[in-house]
Amino acid sequence: MAEVYTLHDLISRQVLDAGQDKPARLAVIGWPIAHSASPRMQQAALDAAGIAARYVRLEVMPGQVGEALARMRELGFIGCNVTVPHKFEVMGCCDVVDAAAQTLGAVNTVSFEAGQTRGSNTDGPGFVRAIADEFGVALGELKVLIVGAGGGAGQALAVQCVMEGVKRLALVNRTLEKLSPVLARLRGLAANCEMLGLALEDSALAEACATADLIVNASSVGLKPGDSPVLPAAWLRPGQLVYDCVYQPKPTPLLQQAAARGCRTADGRSMLIHQGALAFQQWFPGSGPLAVMRSALAGPASEA
Ligand code: ATR
Repeated sequence: MAEVYTLHDLISRQVLDAGQDKPARLAVIGWPIAHSASPRMQQAALDAAGIAARYVRLEVMPGQVGEALARMRELGFIGCNVTVPHKFEVMGCCDVVDAAAQTLGAVNTVSFEAGQTRGSNTDGPGFVRAIADEFGVALGELKVLIVGAGGGAGQALAVQCVMEGVKRLALVNRTLEKLSPVLARLRGLAANCEMLGLALEDSALAEACATADLIVNASSVGLKPGDSPVLPAAWLRPGQLVYDCVYQPKPTPLLQQAAARGCRTADGRSMLIHQGALAFQQWFPGSGPLAVMRSALAGPASEA
């Protein structure tokens, strides 16, 4: 499953499917891509549904997303998932980008439909489902604080929060300047959501944390072994919901400390599973891949 294909392999069906019993008809594209966990869960869902197709890793360099999509389409692919760093570049390579993906500013799922390459985004809806699943609450009911809101992932989550109608949204980033364009965009989407932007070292951050119902880490802090928690334990309160989009190494430093404070915690694996299941359902309407994907990912994790 660790095999990685490149654009050269998309030259023909003979090359792509040499020695395989099923044709490659779905892929995840990214740079790098060898670490992706998507094939594990998507292939399990294909197999469980009795669909004779392979889901493969495809390494695509920045600037080559358009060519990759064109070749996949020619070879009769059903679609692909799109991961870092291509979620923005791919928007310009689709014939149609659906309204929610346009608002989110990123595409993570592509479907090759009758003559049309269509882009959509299941990351945002996957996050909403992950919060409902893990904590039994609707995101829109919560006051939310997002750390890392200036990064690509954090911005998309912030937009999704606003689309869900959250009551209050605190955006936190190490580099404060990155929040100005995000806040301006969000204010254009929701006039009646109370929003604030804070730097990580802002003296008002302790208070903003204490008054949030849900704290989300969308920064990359926690990915490297030995990372410190992105927020001090003293700013968390018992019963608070803490979601870390990072899920490896497990438990993340933030979740470890949040659990010790008596918070309810969950990591990003649920988001990974839900975005994957939603993508699969776009390719195969009426399917129900969630349980199969969840068990396929049980065990050591890696990235989407
Ligand atoms: P992306 O491609 O999503 O923008 P990124 O550049 O790795 O990914 O940044 C992800 C987020 O993690 C950003 O919010 C980043 O903060 P900056 O905007 O200030 O760069 C945040 N981040 C990365 N390392 C961090 C650290 N050591 N402390 C705090 N935040 C950090």
